[in-house]
Amino acid sequence: MKISMIVAYGKNWEIGLDNEMLWHISEDFKNFKAITSGHHILMGRKTFESIGKPLPNRTSLVLSNSGFEHDGVHTFNDVQKAFDFARASAEEELFIIGGANIYETLFPYVDKMYLSEVDFEGKADAFLKEIDFSTWDLTQEKSYDAIIENEKVKSPAWKFKVWIKKD
Ligand SMILES: NC(=O)c1ccc[n+]([C@@H]2O[C@H](COP(=O)([O-])OP(=O)(O)OC[C@H]3O[C@@H](n4cnc5c(N)ncnc54)[C@H](OP(=O)(O)O)[C@@H]3O)[C@@H](O)[C@H]2O)c1
Repeated sequence: MKISMIVAYGKNWEIGLDNEMLWHISEDFKNFKAITSGHHILMGRKTFESIGKPLPNRTSLVLSNSGFEHDGVHTFNDVQKAFDFARASAEEELFIIGGANIYETLFPYVDKMYLSEVDFEGKADAFLKEIDFSTWDLTQEKSYDAIIENEKVKSPAWKFKVWIKKD
């Protein structure tokens, strides 16, 4: 089973504030849905609470040590048990979907990264640890323009990149 991570981050590696996202980019959201649909998605308890419900057409796995439970999700207190659950369901590509704590802890397991680099700088309290791209190969790249409405940035510009870990 391949282990992938998917994340959107700003210019200073910021990913969240007050347990919420920092921007609303509908195209990125659609992309996330298309990439993760049909798969197991693994997240920390705080990210699940930020989303608030299991995402449709995906199997939600939540990591928690505090006994968290919610209808429609599978909770694990051990990363390997979550991986084993996905493997037992014949998953071929598991997606780690955040947040900061989970990205950092599980980064050593990641084989493939789907990254949205957002043209955003601002207050944040959740960050991605800086990635050293020298051990990764870029396999896909696409740029998206900002959406401006009434002279204001409604949605920032962003670049979507896919990276695969070098052997
Ligand atoms: N930009 C993006 O792409 C993106 C994506 C996802 C999330 N985010 C943002 O990230 C922020 C949340 O990140 P966060 O770091 O605060 O929280 P998080 O990683 O979502 O969740 C942390 C929680 O996960 C559980 N956990 C962590 N490691 C564990 C382990 N090894 N075993 C069992 N349980 C474990 C613990 O839950 P218990 O306390 O219950 O034990 C811990 O408190 C939010 O602002 C969110 O909006 C951004």
